[in-house]
Order: sequence, then structure tokens, then C-alpha cells
Amino acid sequence: MDFTDRVAVVTGSARGIGKAIARKLFEAGASVVIADLKQVDIDATCHDIAEGATPEAAERICGFACDVSQPDSVDTLFRSVKARFGRLDILVNNAGITRDNLFMRMTFEQWKLVMDVNLNGTFLCCRHAMNMLRKSKHGRIVNLSSISAGGNIGQANYAASKAGVVGLTKTLALELARRQITVNAVAPGFIDTEMTRAVPEKDRQHWIDHIPALRAGTVDDVADAVVFLASDDASFITGEVLGVDGGLNTPETVVARIGEKDQQATKN
Ligand code: NAI
Repeated sequence: MDFTDRVAVVTGSARGIGKAIARKLFEAGASVVIADLKQVDIDATCHDIAEGATPEAAERICGFACDVSQPDSVDTLFRSVKARFGRLDILVNNAGITRDNLFMRMTFEQWKLVMDVNLNGTFLCCRHAMNMLRKSKHGRIVNLSSISAGGNIGQANYAASKAGVVGLTKTLALELARRQITVNAVAPGFIDTEMTRAVPEKDRQHWIDHIPALRAGTVDDVADAVVFLASDDASFITGEVLGVDGGLNTPETVVARIGEKDQQATKN
């Protein structure tokens, strides 16, 4: 896949899945903007991805500190992208957080924080990117949803935010199709990143035991799917949600997974 002359913004890309997406887009020739919370992390990631590249190629990667939940911060991000590259072709809304708790114990702060980053952040980035994407002849938006969008014990906030991302994706796809902008989502299952390393070991093992592929996913598994949806090869695919989960989301595994977790939650 060739991304020469394309400009991509990947949010939450200083580490994890976002970093893998940024690396693959950069290696395929795109100019890439890393957008994340801390400039020091962004600079380290840019340096890492550009390592070994020619000085000319290294010019194609840069990063701006941005909190996607803050309208002013998002506005500044896209103004900076315009000033640096003058265009935008690909937006990957990857920034996401969890604040897990059983619903009975979930605070409004936990609910709101997750909605603000995962769903409102996706809205804000789409909104502020729109003018530049409309001018691209091959605009692409890829949003990170999750297998948890279908419901997951302890994740009412996260599941609602990721289900919201699906609704936003499908609606935007309809509204933007005539402008040749595609809007799709990727729904990862259990992927080995710092986000899932924060899950207690017994719960991690519970998830992995129910993955038909018998392993956790890698960041590259997800990045490959995102890069495909961002490519010219996917120009007639829009409004789709592509699962990247090693078969975890089949009816049999969902029933087994939820049944056991429900028993655990009842005991708690
Ligand atoms: P991660 O926690 O390793 O990385 C998330 C990145 O987002 C971090 O660099 C963080 O600084 C950044 N971020 C957090 N809040 C931000 C904000 N307000 N503004 C800008 N950047 C912010 O997460 P991971 O695992 O790489 O996940 C990436 C995406 O994939 C998320 O949307 C997540 O919900 C989704 N996902 C991950 C799964 C997994 O198993 N790891 C499964 C399903 C979905």
C-alpha cells in the first residue's frame, strides 16, 4: 500500500496500538502526526519511528500535544497540522481510556471521563478535521471501537462510549460518502498493550482462555486492519466495523465469557 503524499493524524499514538498505526503509515510513505497528551512522549515516539530513515523522510513525522477531550486543544491540533502540512487525508481516532468499575459502584466522574475522551474526543477530532478532509480526494476516518461495545461487565462507561463510536461511524459514513470520505471502525478484542497490562492477571488469563486463536492480539494485528481501511484498496468500504479479535466475538465465546464473569461479579 502506498501512502505517498497522504497526511495522517493518529490520536493517542505515543504508545500502544496508535504507535503501531503511526509506524505503519509512516513506513508506507505517509506524513504522520502523532497526537497525544505529553510532548515528551510524542518526541520519543517520533524519534523511535524515524530511526534509520533519511533526514528527508524524517521530516514526514511530527507530533503535537493534544487532549482530545478539550475542544480548544483539538482546534489547536488541526490548526497546527494545517500550518505544517497544508492538508489532511487520514484521521485515526485511537485515543482511548478505561475507568472500570461495576455499575453499582461507578461514579459519575468515571462515566464522564471515559465518555469525554473516547466518544466526545472522537466527535471533536472528526468535526475539526472536516474542512481539510473534505478537500482531500480520498478522505479516510478510522475510529477505534472495541469488542466491549457489545457490553462487558465492569465497563458500562467504556462499552457505552465504544458503542457510541459505532453509531457515530455509521452516521458519518452516510453523510460523507458523497464527498468520497470513508468512515469505518475497527473493534479490537483483547490486545497486548499497557491498557490491558493494567488488568489483573487472573482477568487477563480469563480473556485469553476464551480467545479461539489462543493468544492475545498484537498492536500490529490492529494496525494492519486500520491501515487497510485507510488505504485506496478500501475506497468502497464505508460504515463498517471490522473486528480484530481472534474469534473472541463469536456467539459461543461471548456466552462463555459473560457467563463466567457474571458468576464472578455476583460473588463480589
Ligand atoms: P494505551 O492505553 O496503551 O494507549 C492509549 C494512548 O492514548 C496513550 O498514549 C495515551 O496517552 C493516549 N491518550 C489517553 N487519553 C488521551 C487524551 N485525552 N488525548 C490524547 N491522547 C490520549 O491504549 P491501547 O491499548 O493502545 O488502545 C488504543 C485504542 O484501542 C483505544 O481507543 C482503546 O480503547 C482501543 N482498544 C484497545 C483494546 C486493547 O485490548 N488494548 C481493545 C479494544 C479497543
